Amino acid sequence: MNIYIHIPFCHQKCHYCYYYSFVPGRDKIADEYLFYLGKEFYLKSKKYKLKDVDSIETVYIGGGTPNYFSDEQFESFFLILKKYLKLEFVKEFVIELNPAACSASQLGILKKHGVTRLSFGIQTLNTEILSEINRHYHDNPAEIIQLAGKMGFIINLDFMLGLPGQKIKDAQDAVQFVKKIKPQSSFWCELRCGTRQITKFTNIPSHEETVKMYELIKRNLARVGYRQIIPEYFTSKKMMPLYLENWWTSGQSLGFGLSAFSKMENVFSKNTDNFEEYADFLKKGKLPVRYVYKLSKEDEALVCLMSELKKGFADLAEIKKEFNVDLAKKLKKEIEQLIFMGLIEFKDSKIVFTDKGYTISSPVSNLLLNNSQYLVKIMDTAFNFIDNMPNLEEFIRKHFFIIDEGTDGKIVFTSPDKKSVGILEKYVKK
Ligand SMILES: C[S@@+](CC[C@H](N)C(=O)[O-])C[C@H]1O[C@@H](n2cnc3c(N)ncnc32)[C@H](O)[C@@H]1O
Ligand code: SF4
Repeated sequence: MNIYIHIPFCHQKCHYCYYYSFVPGRDKIADEYLFYLGKEFYLKSKKYKLKDVDSIETVYIGGGTPNYFSDEQFESFFLILKKYLKLEFVKEFVIELNPAACSASQLGILKKHGVTRLSFGIQTLNTEILSEINRHYHDNPAEIIQLAGKMGFIINLDFMLGLPGQKIKDAQDAVQFVKKIKPQSSFWCELRCGTRQITKFTNIPSHEETVKMYELIKRNLARVGYRQIIPEYFTSKKMMPLYLENWWTSGQSLGFGLSAFSKMENVFSKNTDNFEEYADFLKKGKLPVRYVYKLSKEDEALVCLMSELKKGFADLAEIKKEFNVDLAKKLKKEIEQLIFMGLIEFKDSKIVFTDKGYTISSPVSNLLLNNSQYLVKIMDTAFNFIDNMPNLEEFIRKHFFIIDEGTDGKIVFTSPDKKSVGILEKYVKK
């Protein structure tokens, strides 16, 4: 099983970021959050017998900016984890960090508590762009990252391509930075225009310009020994980190904190993203879950297809064997269309991206699944937090059958084929 813990605080909200996070408007909110996080651990550890489970393979602390926490708050946070999880059995322990907020003493605390992998968000080294996009940044992030490397952490660096005003020179500078730091891996994500603020920028590079930056990065990283595992991800060893491998394959994942999502067996659920509601639920001894969706076999086959495609190819015969769902038949029209567009090939029941398709594999996967079902859209809406996506409730009302709607704000709905069932619980302030 994999554990995900969401820390929703940031020092500034980057204009492009659609992940659930906010700049705290008052003191002590992080202390309160830790208090309720402890309660959620208490409830879930009883329900899932977490202390008995020595199969917790990975723990991922994401955000927001987990290192918004002060040193004292980090210590309280690890006390909670140690109380409810057997951390000594965890194979990979990851945390996302903004280098601008990272200190040597913070790194010491992370080391002491067994964190193995640090994922630093760089995005770009161009400080003009960083201030334009309202990011909390440091002029010289190298120093603290090099210190982390010396302390024996596995280092990942996150970059973004296609930021407003970004030019090929910025991509060259980013490559130089990677050569200097020598992280074990780096992630290069094309900007997804998921917020209203970012769509107002008129100087966002075109997709073609972004692809040019990406090609430059790919060529240069290959020269210094980095291998590409998935389109966005380059490592010094041909190995996928375990947490990614697990999320995309076996996928038992238990989420904690505001907006965190879980997938246990064939049930997806998502925590509320309203702090007041989160606290209310937990005060009453209830799990802070806002939204539950039970996958049908067909949904599961499609989720499996999406995960497999992240790795570059998918074998539809294997998926049929596992779920008894014939996706080759179901997606025939979409597959033919993408072959015609030169984006995929289909051989011996395997879908493989062409070179052209591989660089844009994410939108190609969405096209493949687009017409056939609602699951992907509902997951995008519910789980990816994109704030210019249609409202989840509106979406459900339009595309699903409502089978029950209570005065308590609970909506029970089913997919058009009536095989998947979901519950959306609206927050009704009492
Ligand atoms: C949610 S952040 C958490 C880490 C930390 N707060 C930071 O920014 O350094 C994780 C990563 O999501 C990516 N990200 C956020 N918004 C994005 C967007 N609109 N398009 C593409 N990637 C995005 C960035 O690369 C970022 O490093
Ligand atoms: S990218 Fe990171 S620092 Fe920026 S708002 Fe999102 S979570 Fe916060």
